Amino acid sequence: MRDARDRPAPLARSLVGAVATEALGRDLGRAVASGDLLALRGELGTGKTTLVRGLVAGLGGDPGRVASPTFVLHRVYRGGRLTLHHVDLFRLGTEVDLALFALDDLLDGGAVVVEWAELADLDPYRPVRIHLEAPSPDVRIATIEATAPARLRDAFSSRAAST
Ligand SMILES: Nc1ncnc2c1ncn2[C@@H]1O[C@H](COP(=O)(O)OP(=O)(O)OP(=O)(O)O)[C@@H](O)[C@H]1O
Ligand SMILES: [Mg+2]
Repeated sequence: MRDARDRPAPLARSLVGAVATEALGRDLGRAVASGDLLALRGELGTGKTTLVRGLVAGLGGDPGRVASPTFVLHRVYRGGRLTLHHVDLFRLGTEVDLALFALDDLLDGGAVVVEWAELADLDPYRPVRIHLEAPSPDVRIATIEATAPARLRDAFSSRAAST
């Protein structure tokens, strides 16, 4: 068995204020690649859409276009380095039929970010899991899983101390 110390650990980043959540999104947006599926978990109001706004900015798109897709389920942001598909499963509850989104096709031509990823089994799409928590109204803790690609882990930790 491998020694636990050889294995990468999940990385956490403390985010004070929405600006910090957006900055994390920007850092990730610069590193995201076509075929990436970012699965965002986290309770109501923990900053998922705010993170997506940063992602679009980091890709070079227009963050002003980002709105919660809760009522339209799927938004597409073009105009950046690659196309970003923004999916929100909240309205679909636990009966999500993922076939609806043709995720394989979306991942062929861009990256996908999913809000409320805990409502579906995204495992077949090899998601990069990011968890957001709100320990207090002014702070969020973001965690990226240990198995995320180094490119995204590096982006995630790029300014962990300052944000
Ligand atoms: N690090 C942070 N510190 C304090 N407030 C934050 C932080 N990040 C985001 N917020 C604020 O939290 C609120 C909810 O943000 P947002 O809409 O992005 O959450 P969400 O997880 O997408 O919510 P929902 O579950 O409804 O989709 C917003 O007012 C946003 O500005
Ligand atoms: Mg949201």
